[in-house]
Amino acid sequence: MTPDRAAARSPDTLGRALPSVRVAPPGPASRRLAQRLRGVESRNVTYLGDRWPVFWEEARGANVRDVDGNVFLDLTGAFGVALLGHRHPGVVAAVAEQSDLLIHGMGDVHPPALKVSYLERLAERLPWTESRTVLANSGSEAVEIALKTGQLVTGRPGILAFEGSYHGLTLGALAATDRELFRGPFRERLYPGVAFAPFPDPLRDGAEAADRSLVEVERILAEGTEDGTPVGTVVVEPVQGRAGARVAPSGFMARLSRMAKEAGALVVADEVFTGVGRCGEFLASTRVGLDPDLVCLGKALGGGFPLSACCGPAPLMDRWPESRGEAQHTSTFLGHPASCAAGLGVLEVMEMESTTARVRILGGRLVRELRGRLAGLPGVAEVRGLGLLLGVELVEGDGMEPAAGRAVQVAQAALELGVLVLPAGRHGHVVELSPPVDLTDQQIECGVDTLEQAIRGASS
Ligand SMILES: Cc1ncc(COP(=O)(O)O)c(C=O)c1O
Repeated sequence: MTPDRAAARSPDTLGRALPSVRVAPPGPASRRLAQRLRGVESRNVTYLGDRWPVFWEEARGANVRDVDGNVFLDLTGAFGVALLGHRHPGVVAAVAEQSDLLIHGMGDVHPPALKVSYLERLAERLPWTESRTVLANSGSEAVEIALKTGQLVTGRPGILAFEGSYHGLTLGALAATDRELFRGPFRERLYPGVAFAPFPDPLRDGAEAADRSLVEVERILAEGTEDGTPVGTVVVEPVQGRAGARVAPSGFMARLSRMAKEAGALVVADEVFTGVGRCGEFLASTRVGLDPDLVCLGKALGGGFPLSACCGPAPLMDRWPESRGEAQHTSTFLGHPASCAAGLGVLEVMEMESTTARVRILGGRLVRELRGRLAGLPGVAEVRGLGLLLGVELVEGDGMEPAAGRAVQVAQAALELGVLVLPAGRHGHVVELSPPVDLTDQQIECGVDTLEQAIRGASS
């Protein structure tokens, strides 16, 4: 590190600090970077608006400092990744130690020794007595591997996914992702044998919500997808994340699992967002009664390093043939030693710091405080979630019409007040919160105050 960069570091309080907005974000340094970025990055990637984004320079715990010296309270956990907090010392130390020895290996040829230790430790956290895993680098890739496994095991190419689902943007995963914005331009490239069943919406369908969805699930499992393709894989998020922290009614996931199994289809739990403690257990499936055949992990798995995994019980995963020299699914960075070190660090920290129990406590407290402050505000339909994956759904007037774009306004207003949140939901109408687990009392109070202020401002 250059002396300049060392000097630029914040004091030790960064991580547990309250927001400090010195210049209205985005400040001049962020604006200059936006201008430069415009000149070099594909224009589709980073949204560059008048009020968005800020460029990050440093982060620790629940704080992010931008290039203008503004300190933010991060209630996004950077897409849910920083469950343990940004730059957790346990993860940093593990990566630093590994980087001094080996930062790249030959994942599926001459593998880094650490890949073995990591897979062994990960297996201890999985629900099967003997499990097998394929490591990868992104959540989308973990989903691709699960979809390939579904095909290998069942021989039935059809996929049942759910309305509102987000499984990633690579072509295979995109075929099971339900968002017109992402699918539209590539529709003709997408695998067509996918059917979408409604994800239960108790807010609008009340007690009928689960049945409405399961009737459709049963029909698709029996009849196949629209073009008659028989369904071999059911892919579901235990809690729909990017759709706005949508939680299905109790009993739904267990019934879904039974139906799929009776029909001979594999249940893939896409736990890229919900897994690794985010929802208060290592797997959210455990909390919602889903009985998965395969599990996809990502995001928090690498504590900030790119690491994902598709895991399943040995008898299913062993339908992949033994490698005779060429793996049928692999990638250059598979089992990357620094990512495996980070992943090991995450698992150790979670054990030492009782992370899942703390997620349940903090999640319960946040929901209560948010409900106490926001329920009853005009335009707030519901505060919901599981563990630390929470959503505030915003609607128009007194009805249940999604307030399109309102969560985007809330996120912009909150940014100006020093708090990072993201919009979610098909219509940008849900404020999504996936904060780190180590918020202080003052940070919780400040986060709730700011959200109330931003939501009141956006609805007026
Ligand atoms: C449930 C779920 N699956 C898959 C993905 C894709 O992960 P990635 O962006 O790492 O490819 C995401 C990302 O948000 C996700 O929320």
